[in-house]
Amino acid sequence: MSRTGDAPKTMHAAIEKLRTTLDRPRHGVDGSVERARRLAALTDRLETRHGYTSDHTAAVSRLAVAIGKRLGLRQDELANVELGALLHDVGKLEVPETILGKATSLNELEWRAMRRHVESGERLLHRVVDLPAVLGIVRWHHERWDGAGYPDGKRGDQIPLAARIVAVADAFQAMTERRPYRSRRSEKAALEEIRRNAGTQFDPSCVNALGDVMRAGASE
Ligand SMILES: [Fe+2]
Repeated sequence: MSRTGDAPKTMHAAIEKLRTTLDRPRHGVDGSVERARRLAALTDRLETRHGYTSDHTAAVSRLAVAIGKRLGLRQDELANVELGALLHDVGKLEVPETILGKATSLNELEWRAMRRHVESGERLLHRVVDLPAVLGIVRWHHERWDGAGYPDGKRGDQIPLAARIVAVADAFQAMTERRPYRSRRSEKAALEEIRRNAGTQFDPSCVNALGDVMRAGASE
């Protein structure tokens, strides 16, 4: 699929439809989530390369909600986590295809362009989504617990909990999926890697909750 093809146009149309849903509360959160889900599928398609497909964003959203439940979030907070996780990478629409699909590591300029997706996403959604918690997930899902993340270098609980949850879910999913630049890891190896980064990259309470979710899943 080419970035000069239908995807960006389709994504802009999907963003517009999401706005229509949010403008008409009678459709409720369910309608918004459905729209967001379609938008998420388009985001994934932008990153689909080398003949494999992914439902990365939907999987991140499911895992983030499971972590949020473990942490005792209220229903309305969980709804924001679901929507925010589905939309978290929508700013990648504005990252050049050559960078998104690159099989080797990115140089500094390319990283800078990649990192801008959080601000692009917030800007794209700002006029559409009037939910600060959702916009916060989009902007801050690459912040780190130790303050070394982007775009604002927030640390600890300066980062909204919903964004800390999505950061953990996103990293776990990315590690367990095939990517152009590396092979996939087992869930056990991914969890170990995330545990090693608890307290530096990730909120330790979110990492513990991920461990609980994995344990519960394994015993089902
Ligand atoms: Fe991202």
